[in-house]
Amino acid sequence: MVNKLEVSSYLSPKTKSEKSSVEGQGLFAIKAVKKGEIVAIKGGYIVDGKTLKKFESIIGDSELQVAENFFLAPLQKSEKRKVMMFLNHSCNPNVGVQGNIVFVAIRDIRPKEELTIDYAMIDDVSYRMKCSCHGKNCRRFITGKDWKNKKLQKKYKGYFSAFIAAKIKT
Ligand SMILES: C[S@@+](CC[C@H](N)C(=O)[O-])C[C@H]1O[C@@H](n2cnc3c(N)ncnc32)[C@H](O)[C@@H]1O
Ligand SMILES: [Zn+2]
Repeated sequence: MVNKLEVSSYLSPKTKSEKSSVEGQGLFAIKAVKKGEIVAIKGGYIVDGKTLKKFESIIGDSELQVAENFFLAPLQKSEKRKVMMFLNHSCNPNVGVQGNIVFVAIRDIRPKEELTIDYAMIDDVSYRMKCSCHGKNCRRFITGKDWKNKKLQKKYKGYFSAFIAAKIKT
């Protein structure tokens, strides 16, 4: 595989972004995905919190936090779609993180299923969001600090973004 000289995320050819019943566009499996398979790898420019704020109107929700005060994000409007992975949040997710930018299936995923991640695995920022994942175990409200929830720490052990896993250990 040869990378084009433009900023982008990698999305598995087994996936496709489509309208989601959770919110906006979501990422869906178009073929069966086995547990452990890579479904997406995040791309973008490395930006700090100050830059993220400055480019807020372009970046929107398309950034991924990779470390304390560091994010991967697009910097131009034309780059946003290429960088987005369209992973919605679910309280009953089928995707987790390996390292900081590699997203893998945490169980077998059937064709047509939406690929989702619990944002507790990737976020350590400040926000509160009403959840519309429709899961029976839905937490109703999701915050950027849900990684601190002990039950979730147990549930997603091995699938937190590395910078959050390091915080849980200390
Ligand atoms: C990375 S985007 C996901 C893709 C998004 N659906 C889109 O079309 O661009 C993250 C945003 O999607 C929305 N979202 C994702 N999961 C959600 C959920 N479970 N409930 C409500 N909104 C959600 C929120 O607005 C969130 O800030
Ligand atoms: Zn939910």
